[in-house]
Amino acid sequence: MSEANIQLVPTTPFDDQRAGTSGLRKPVRVFQQPHYLENFVQAIFNTRPELKDGLLILGGDGRFHNDVAIGIILRMAAASGVARVIVGQHGFLSTPAVSHLIRKHHAQGGIILSASHNPGGPNGDFGIKFNTANGGPAPEAVTEAFFNETRKIRAFLIHAGDVPEIGRTGEFMLGDMRVDIVDPVSDYADLMQHLFDFDAMRKLLASGFQIRFDAMHAITGPYARHIFTDLLGAPAEWIMNSTPLPDFGGGHPDPNLKHAASLVALTQGENGVDFAAASDGDGDRNMILGKRCFVTPSDSLAVIAAHAAMIPGYRNGIHGVARSMPTSQAADRVAERLGIAHYETPTGWKFFGNLLDHQRITFCGEESFGTGSDHVREKDGLWAVLFWLNILAGSRQSVSDILAAHWREYGRNYYTRHDYEGIDSGIATQLVETLRGQLDGLRGQRFGDHTIAWADDFSYTDPIDASVSAHQGIRIGFEDGSRIVYRLSGTGTQGATLRVYLESFEPDPARQQLDTQHVMQALVDIADRLADIRSRTGRDAPDIIT
Ligand code: G1P
Ligand code: ZN
Repeated sequence: MSEANIQLVPTTPFDDQRAGTSGLRKPVRVFQQPHYLENFVQAIFNTRPELKDGLLILGGDGRFHNDVAIGIILRMAAASGVARVIVGQHGFLSTPAVSHLIRKHHAQGGIILSASHNPGGPNGDFGIKFNTANGGPAPEAVTEAFFNETRKIRAFLIHAGDVPEIGRTGEFMLGDMRVDIVDPVSDYADLMQHLFDFDAMRKLLASGFQIRFDAMHAITGPYARHIFTDLLGAPAEWIMNSTPLPDFGGGHPDPNLKHAASLVALTQGENGVDFAAASDGDGDRNMILGKRCFVTPSDSLAVIAAHAAMIPGYRNGIHGVARSMPTSQAADRVAERLGIAHYETPTGWKFFGNLLDHQRITFCGEESFGTGSDHVREKDGLWAVLFWLNILAGSRQSVSDILAAHWREYGRNYYTRHDYEGIDSGIATQLVETLRGQLDGLRGQRFGDHTIAWADDFSYTDPIDASVSAHQGIRIGFEDGSRIVYRLSGTGTQGATLRVYLESFEPDPARQQLDTQHVMQALVDIADRLADIRSRTGRDAPDIIT
């Protein structure tokens, strides 16, 4: 290889390359601007010197622009002296699979191309995330270093050679760099077989127990086909929308009650299926449904922690449990009962990394359909689905029976999230600022049966590295244990999204089977009054209720 193949291309900085909650996420057309992706990728190579002579894992969720970006990144990696890249066939790798490959091969890092659950296609979104050697999302200090680098970048390096055809597996050279194109599924499927009781699940599926999995035309299709059909014997038609498409078939690959409504419909009525689940664009989110039953992600985390002793990979004992701040406190109750630690972290998976690495926790989760454990350093959609299937196989109870028993034992944390999307950024910021300014005076204020006990702006000090993350959301606590949380989304690409999270605790089993929105109505009204949501935003109702 001659140095002549490496080109030094002059460039000028973009000023908007600061990562949000989860990587750099922008409309596709922003990423299509000349040098936009290149500048960001060069900032990664410039600030992560360990990648030189190192191993990089590379893949994405298959969305529009994935293949173009893979080609550019491979040529830039070769030019920056990366020794070897492992890339998923067709450029496919789910987010948890990247995390696993980084850990398995002791790679120096990984690049994931995804905008998660945001729509894809030429008019959709694209994104890029960097994961560090522990397999987890880059912490804030790392993404800030990228951002600072992008503000002064003047040139990037790119190899002029031809990129190998990524549609077939094999080993190739690009200049001095080795490129291994691998089956994206097999290592991940091995890991799942190591954690869960596949024999018990196979027997359950052969017994007439009906399941459906909706891959939403995103990355989990090939994973689900292999795991559920090849390994567990499910009929192929139980895996819905299993072909990844660049625009996700025009859908919104977000597994929630609105965007996965057709799956939800299959669980309704007398002939509803016993178990249904879905995952998002890049495979890290999950939604769990039973016959006429929706499991909130907050409850899912609590149920998972409570059933760890049934699952082969966790049978020998677990460390603590962590949840993001807006997630309901259901998991805390399980941890207290088990005598293990529980932690409350800011929104975003990156805050779990230190706790997982230092064995403070085994399980962690977010209300936003994210659940995971120390088996990787990302949330993991299919892992959560298999965890539930293993519980169902072991207990031979229905999803709703498992939930009801859980609530009877621990009490029920009724929970809902109301999202106001695409509101004016200035109005959104002002709404939060005004609330922040009122925090001191809120204590003791009464709204009907509800009296405010405390209010603050959540700040987190990492127990391992003492780093502080301030302004993570406004929390308002009531004397009966109810909570309202307000925060602005850090992943949206248009205007601002206000998220209002509401929680109330019900210890009485006789009152645990009520309709959530009905139970929460009083709190919803208080949330509106405290923040003047309707009058400030001009919206009568939230865009999404989960
Ligand atoms: C959202 C979720 C958050 C999750 C993130 C990435 O971020 O709320 O829990 O970690 O997506 O999947 P947000 O838009 O609220 O900043
Ligand atoms: Zn995702």
